[in-house]
Amino acid sequence: MSASIVLKRTGQKMPQVGFGLWKVTKSTCADTVYNALKAGYRLLDGAGDYGNEKEAGEGLRRAISDGIVKREDVFVTSKLWNTFHAREHVGALARKQLGLWGIDYFDLFLIHFPIALQYVDPAHRYPPEWFGDDGKVYLANVPFSETWGAMETLVDEGLVKNIGVSNCQGALLLDVLRYAKYAPAVNQVELHPYLSQEALIKLCNTLGVAITAYSSLGPQSYVELGGSKGAENLLQHSAVASIASKHSKSTAQVLLRWAVQQGLAVIPKSNNHDRLVQNLQVEQFTLTDDEMKQLSSLNVNLRLNDPADIDPRMAIFA
Ligand code: A2P
Repeated sequence: MSASIVLKRTGQKMPQVGFGLWKVTKSTCADTVYNALKAGYRLLDGAGDYGNEKEAGEGLRRAISDGIVKREDVFVTSKLWNTFHAREHVGALARKQLGLWGIDYFDLFLIHFPIALQYVDPAHRYPPEWFGDDGKVYLANVPFSETWGAMETLVDEGLVKNIGVSNCQGALLLDVLRYAKYAPAVNQVELHPYLSQEALIKLCNTLGVAITAYSSLGPQSYVELGGSKGAENLLQHSAVASIASKHSKSTAQVLLRWAVQQGLAVIPKSNNHDRLVQNLQVEQFTLTDDEMKQLSSLNVNLRLNDPADIDPRMAIFA
């Protein structure tokens, strides 16, 4: 079992190493989730946008009915997509997503991006992704405070235990805290040695907001999408490789360990069972202070997941 982070308002324990469902192949997703739970994962990180919630739920429910896990042993995260930020859509979507999973609550529900897009009826297209039918991006005038208030209602209704944000910078987090009835429990952000986000980590630690790092392996996460921006692969970086060989670990394990050792949660995805198992084994070794510093010094503020690359009006990290 992986170590966990205690979430502030509920005191619920969030496993530090979870299984990420982004880019998990739909046709094999149910089996992958089943096998991830069998291998020991106790956190599943999904989202409406990943398009595989029904299959992930099938895997989870099969693992429950086979006695591998109980529902309460698994921490299930999902995310609200950008087209559903208006107050009247938040509850409907959370219910729809729970229905796809076949469960009656999420342990954590996040606002996927601080970007509101025009509503797309799920009966028309689901998941709706970034574009309208004509391939253009349509923004919507929904303030973040409205969406946050609707997320709080989900807590009161018992549909979700914890709520949080994703892809949020300091200014927005501080603003949410000015009006929140329930503070964000988690901020899930891109974070790896090329984008070490030290200032954001410091702020979140101060505020008691847990951080989940996504794309912990850096550019490798984007290779299958063709979006690694020409960056040198961190898994083959000589500094990472030399630390890995000293500990007889893989470079992926070193990158995950670097995050976990900073108190962050990680959610690596793999469609390959051996890599999936390997990624869970990042707590049986410790990097020295010097190794941690060497990895942190690779920072070049390289952001691979930036909606501004889709449309300059979505430059949330500007
Ligand atoms: P694969 O599914 O073929 O293993 P993310 O950051 O979104 O979790 O994506 C991780 C990326 O790195 C995926 O492309 C995944 O591909 C790959 N990957 C996952 N675990 C490992 C590992 N231990 N070693 C090398 N590549 C990995």
